This record gives sequence, C-alpha cells and structure tokens, in this order.
Amino acid sequence: MSTYTSASKSFLGQFRAITSRMPTQLRTDLHVVDKESFPYIYEQNATIALKSSDGHVRCNVFRPKTSDQGQRVPVLVTYGPYGKDAPYKDFYKKSYDELNPEHKSEHAAWETPDPGFWTKQGYAVVRADERGIGQSRGFLDTMSRGTSEAFFEVVEWCAEQPWSSGKVGLLGISYYAGSQWRVAARRPKGLAAIVPWEGMSDYYRDRCRHGGILSNNFIDFWWNRQVVSNQYGRPRDEAIVTNANTGGEGPKRPQTSPETIEGNLSPEERAKNRQDQTVDNRENRFRDDEYYASKEYDMGDIEVPLLSVANWGGILLHLRGNIEGFNHAGSQQKWLRIITGRHDLPFYYKEEVEIQKSFLDAFLKGEDHAGWTQGKVPLVDMVLRKGDVGFNNADAEKAYPRRIEHEWPIARTQWTKWYLTPQKGLTPDVKVAEAASQKRCKVSYEALGTLQDPKFVQFVTEPFEKETEITGHVVFHATVSVTALPKGATPSDIDLFVTLRHISPEGKEVFYTGTAGDPVPLTKGWLRVSLRKVNTSHPKHRPYLPWRDYTSKDVQPVINGELYEVEVEVWPTNVVLEPGAKLVLEVASGDTQGCGIFQHNDKTDRAPSKFEGMNHICFGPSTLNYLLLPIIPPK
Ligand SMILES: *[C@@H]1O[C@H](CO)[C@@H](O)[C@H](O)[C@H]1NC(C)=O
Ligand SMILES: *[C@@H]1O[C@H](CO)[C@@H](O)[C@H](O)[C@H]1NC(C)=O
Repeated sequence: MSTYTSASKSFLGQFRAITSRMPTQLRTDLHVVDKESFPYIYEQNATIALKSSDGHVRCNVFRPKTSDQGQRVPVLVTYGPYGKDAPYKDFYKKSYDELNPEHKSEHAAWETPDPGFWTKQGYAVVRADERGIGQSRGFLDTMSRGTSEAFFEVVEWCAEQPWSSGKVGLLGISYYAGSQWRVAARRPKGLAAIVPWEGMSDYYRDRCRHGGILSNNFIDFWWNRQVVSNQYGRPRDEAIVTNANTGGEGPKRPQTSPETIEGNLSPEERAKNRQDQTVDNRENRFRDDEYYASKEYDMGDIEVPLLSVANWGGILLHLRGNIEGFNHAGSQQKWLRIITGRHDLPFYYKEEVEIQKSFLDAFLKGEDHAGWTQGKVPLVDMVLRKGDVGFNNADAEKAYPRRIEHEWPIARTQWTKWYLTPQKGLTPDVKVAEAASQKRCKVSYEALGTLQDPKFVQFVTEPFEKETEITGHVVFHATVSVTALPKGATPSDIDLFVTLRHISPEGKEVFYTGTAGDPVPLTKGWLRVSLRKVNTSHPKHRPYLPWRDYTSKDVQPVINGELYEVEVEVWPTNVVLEPGAKLVLEVASGDTQGCGIFQHNDKTDRAPSKFEGMNHICFGPSTLNYLLLPIIPPK
C-alpha cells in the first residue's frame, strides 16, 4: 500500500518529538534472579533496550531450573498491555476462580501461558510489558506497526539468551493472539511456531469498524480499564473512567499491580505519550487514513507453522480473524481448530493444553508425537454445535461432537440461497419467493435502533424437515433504501445489522456461549451502506465473502428513497439444525440481543442527522433478497 511508508514515518516523527518529555534515568539495577523461592527460576525486570524506537521493554522470565545447568530451553513469549506483574487472581477474580487449577501458579496472568505449568514442560516463559505499558517506557500505541517492531526485538532477544534453545513460540489469548499475526509477518529470528488463540487479525474489519460501523463500546471499556490504566507512569490509584456500558463486570488493573519504577508522569505527559484508541477509531473512518494504514501488514508474509484457534461464539471480535488468518497466512504448515466456550477458560482446559503442547513440542523441541510435521494431523478440527446445551456451561458443551475436515471452506459445501418474502418468510424455493414478490413492496423498520430500544424485522423459515448442518461463511444479499420521517431531516446513510438465530423444535431460541459467557445467537454481520462497494478483483474476494477496501474513495452516496443492492458479509458460523428447528434472519438498524459489550452506539459515528429515517428492505419481480448459506451434506 502506497500510504504505508509515509504513514509510518510520520508516526515515528510524532513519537520522536515527544520522547524527550519522558524521564531519562533508566534504572537497570532492578533485574533480580531468584533461584530459590519457586519451582522455577524467576527473573524480574529484565530490560531490553529498543533499537527500533525510543524506549525499553521490561519483562519477567520464568525458566526451568535445568536451564541453569546447561540445558537450553525453548521460549514462549507474550508482549502486551495488561501488566506483567498484575496477578490473574486480582486482575479478574471471577475468571480466576473458574480456571483449571493446574494453571494457577503464583505468577499466573490473564490470558497468558502459566509459568508454573509450562516451566514443568521444559519451556521458558517470558512475559513482557508492551512499550508504553507497566514498566516499559515508550510510546503507547497498541496494535501499531511501531509496537510490533518492539515485539520483534523482544522475540529476537528471547532467541539470543544464553539459556534459550533459540526457538521461540507465541501462545496466548485475545490481545496475546492478535499481536502474533503482525509480528510473525515480520519474521523475527528464532520464531518457530505460533498459536493465536482467539485472536483477531484485521484491525479495521474485525475489531474497530464492523462493515464500516464503529465498534466503540468494547474499545472504550478495554482501553480505559485494562490498557491506559496501565500506562507507563500512571499512578495506580488514579480513578478509572470509562463511558462504556459495562454492567460493572470485567477485568481491570488491580491494586496489587506495582507502580512505575522510575516514577509517575503527569496526565499531560502521559497523554502525549500515547495514541488513544477511543479517539483514533472515532476520528478515522477509512482504511486509507494514516491511522489504519500504519497498522496494515501482509498475512502472506507469515511463514512459521501456525495453529489458529477460533471460537464459534466469538462473533463480535476474534472469530473472523482466526478464520481469515488461517486462510491467508503464507505458512506451509497451518491448522485451524474451532472451539466453543468463553474466551478466558478453554485455553487452560486439560484437553486444549494437550493440543498446544503437542503442537509446540513438535515445532519447538522436535518432539512430534502426533505427526504434525508428517502431514498426519487434519487441517481443520472443529466442534459441531448440535442441540441446545445452554450457554456458559462448559460441562454441557462437552456433549457437542467434533469433526475433522481437510480444507476450509469445506469443499462439499452446497452454497444455497434462502429467499426472503414480504410476508417475512425465508425459503429455499425461488418460485415461492418470486410469486410472493410480484408486486413491488417493502418491509420497513425505523433507523437508529439501539440494544436498549432495538428496531428490526425478522424473516423465519418453516421448520426444517431433516437434520441440516450449516458450516462456513454467510452472505446477506438485499435491496435496501431509506426515507425521511415526517418532518425529519433527509437521511444520507443506512447501517445494516444482521443476525442469524436458531429456534429449537420446542420453539425456544437456542443461545450459545459468548465471549464473556453471555448468551449469543448463531452469528452477526454489519454494513454501512455508503461503504457498500465491493472490490471483486481483490485476491481476497470470494463469492461467499464480499471483499471491501473501505477506503475514503469507496464512499458512495445514499439518497433518500433510492434503492441499493448490497452484499453484507456475515461472520462464519456452525450449527446442526434438528428436524423441527427454524432459522431466523434478523435485519436491524442497530445492535440487538447478543452483542454483549460490543455495542455500536457512538453518537458521532451514527449521527441522527445522517441516519434518522425509515429503513426498508425492497421486494419486486426483479428484486429478490436472499441469504447465502453454506449447507454441509453428510459425509
Ligand atoms: C521489578 O519491577 C516491579 C514492577 O514491575 C517492582 O515492583 C519490583 O520491585 C521490581 N523488582 C525488583 C527486584 O526491584
Ligand atoms: C481492488 O483491489 C486490488 C488489490 O488490492 C487493487 O489493486 C485495486 O485497485 C482495487 N480495485 C478497486 C476498484 O479499488
């Protein structure tokens, strides 16, 4: 991308200008090696001076005692914003209480591999504070090019340590997964395998702007409670302020996390030392804005063996990225594993840890018992969501079967169109849909719905006659329009929020476990209609995945009363519908049930002056609306 270089240069310039305000007396006397107190060697505050930018990265090292007796060990490293010294039990006690006890060592930390467990398996664990966070001085700019350059240096540092075998693996959840794609694309020396466990890979499409619509609520929650609360130089006791609608639950910087060793900085200094994601994502709307452009990387540059672990319930943040990451990584050896459950717990389940260890042993230690390196492990291994087992119930979810596949999407997929009717039906029979759409008409709902006051229409299938599996990508094809309200302003855009729901044969909606244990529907998808332009010549464009560039040049007008044909990308999903079950397609003008904390309710992004009005799905003899579904026939 042509803007890439200039963008990163100006970011660097901005950074250089501000670094002089940081304290310069770097303390290097704090690195302590404790060989006695724990079953492993514990090194605190090792300092890595950065070459790629101003600042340093501090990390804690946990390594097997044998690594002091001449045995060189492979390294698992995480680099992120939640504080290397923040104990899991204090960061989010509610989650910690439910953790597999085998992973609750003294130094367990949120979403990272447990040092107690992994040192016993012969691995060193290195946990670094990201640049600008905790004890690492520098410019805080999460998920940026600059911070991944620093991570790159940390990976190489791990490979070069005297106790290191030179082989480094990346293993972690969420942030500690999303960061893996970007650094792996830079190919640091020593990097030998990655396991992005529920990790989004596309900053714009997966995280910040869903179909172009700002996903503000989660970012506000995450940034204020878990990230900026940990900024280098921030007093621990400073109040955490967030506008996010949180319900009060969730992780945050604990009182037990230490103060910055070099001392605190004023709020003004700290403000200059960071890029604020809540502000940046509101102000930057397009992928050619410098802000987003500077975060781009090419997934095809990833070469290391990778095990991408996706969660069917991660429908608002990570799921898409794990699947796209698997599809497009340049690695010769890559696997996709799909699970269910919450985002914090399954990573530590015994059976999941066995997979992690089997994979890492193969590529970091050369101990390949499962045959990863010999093509013996099937490419795709996934849970099938069959039946109603409830949500947030790990034991009940054990009833779900698993199945292996040899490619993604599944080659035997029967891509099937299910047509909407003006009577709010959903049918695979095109003749029925055509007959029902003889006269031009529309199905309407009000714009600017919110989770608290949702505005939507639902299209429902007849009960399925036989068991039917849906697995893969989904597209919603529709003709839409907007008209002004009586005496209202003239609208100039439409936000489409699409949800797929599953109704059991008993007539009750089946909910699945969402990211935070909340009930979620099958899947969701989004589109801002002014950003409807699809780039069909892009190499990543597929009939089942309309590819959008989302640049400022892609913006197209939306005129009061005119009809627009759009293709909405709906995130991949899986369900096995039993005979008698129904499927519901919901089209809304804002968030509806199941979005949890990931609300799209920023008043600037969804300004009433642009969006207010009635939204319509339009029908007519030549205007068929349909859902493209991946139906999987039995093997
Ligand atoms: C290392 O840094 C932590 C903060 O990260 C601090 O609490 C601790 O005292 C330091 N350790 C030593 C040995 O100075
Ligand atoms: C589509 O994507 C390709 C590849 O990135 C790009 O070269 C081309 O300019 C894009 N087409 C349009 C019409 O934007």
